[in-house]
Amino acid sequence: MAFDCTLSREQEMVRETVRAFAEDVLKPRAAALDRTREFPHDNYRRAAALNLTGMMVPEAYGGAGFDAVSYVIAIEEVSRACASTGVVLSVNNSLFCGPILKYGSEEQKRRYLVPHARGERIGAYCLTEPGSGSDAAALRTSAVRRGDRYVLSGNKVFVTNGVAAHTFIVYATIDAKLRHRGISAFIVERDFPGLRTGKPEHKMGITASGSVEIVLEACEVPAGNLLGAEGEGFKIAMNTLDGGRIGIAAQALGIGAAALEESLAYSRSRQAFGAPIAQLQAIQWKLADMATELEAARLLAYRAAWARDHLERYSLEASMAKLFASEACMRAAKEGVQIHGGYGYINEYTVERLFRDAKITEIYEGTSEIQRLVIAKEILKGGPA
Ligand code: CAA
Repeated sequence: MAFDCTLSREQEMVRETVRAFAEDVLKPRAAALDRTREFPHDNYRRAAALNLTGMMVPEAYGGAGFDAVSYVIAIEEVSRACASTGVVLSVNNSLFCGPILKYGSEEQKRRYLVPHARGERIGAYCLTEPGSGSDAAALRTSAVRRGDRYVLSGNKVFVTNGVAAHTFIVYATIDAKLRHRGISAFIVERDFPGLRTGKPEHKMGITASGSVEIVLEACEVPAGNLLGAEGEGFKIAMNTLDGGRIGIAAQALGIGAAALEESLAYSRSRQAFGAPIAQLQAIQWKLADMATELEAARLLAYRAAWARDHLERYSLEASMAKLFASEACMRAAKEGVQIHGGYGYINEYTVERLFRDAKITEIYEGTSEIQRLVIAKEILKGGPA
């Protein structure tokens, strides 16, 4: 089946429903959440009631059974109103439910996937460490088998949802010298002995997404909580990130769309040189570029989502979507501030928050440099490098 970017009636309905939720519930709270940095528990509960916490999980496991294009649409709409809530949902959907659905045993699906997909629980993903970010295979958190348990020791940082999560997927190595071949994935509950949260991360943007350090001090994990096979963890982490990057592309689209919307409204109402600034060609060109780049990013994100549903491996499509959408988002946010002039630099105006929120989309779930590396590797495959 070939990629067709025409949205179905069901996908259009997802957009209508989530846009109404975002406008009525999320948008009025977004500035306060940004200020207080409180985890958006109530937003999460209400998103769960709309089946937005396990969107691509089959109904039999507590999810909504939607396709990935619907997921992109939903995360874009949520992020248009509140980028923190966007990533909170993206992590539970893509980085937590995704790998358990794909690699989990039936018992793990019943025990963990069902309550997280229903949104009764919150999931997190622990890959990054103080000494390893882009070079994920260099992680040092250790896993030692002792009888019917594994003992995990190490520190994970920048863990989105970490302050509120009930369950974490933790990547650890049986022998760091083996690099990616030594890594395994574990499902770790918050109250397993030896797991605690460390220092909260005070971030520039998406301030309400509950990022925190997770400390594992000889944390005991039952052997039955190994996700996939021993040594399969790196592939699970990478495959999961292919899906996660589509969610971040969608989040970037939402932030960028909000920047465009704010800029259109401001340029229609702001007067300069005797007319609304929307009549100045300097402003029109900025608006035109923002709209065009965001539409191109949207199509790349839909194509990546389609690939996720139809292809075994979709690293190329996911990285292209994430790279282009995040850079288009950053440019849109930057121009949005510029169009607002001095007001754009004041935190009473939404574009100031959007500018801070936009930056992370070029960094997490693989920096733009890592996306270029993945894309280059994929397009060089099959021929001399
Ligand atoms: N799917 C399945 N397998 C994959 C894969 C994928 N997408 N990518 C690589 N692999 C496999 C390879 O086939 C290879 O397998 P073999 O051993 O069988 O040959 C193996 O994994 C190793 O692959 P590479 O040699 O390509 O690995 P590398 O060490 O060169 O690393 C990398 C590649 C792309 C740089 C990777 O380390 C990477 O993506 N780094 C960025 C990490 C990242 O995105 N971190 C984000 C943290 S999570 C986060 O931000 C969450 C949040 O808070 C929102």
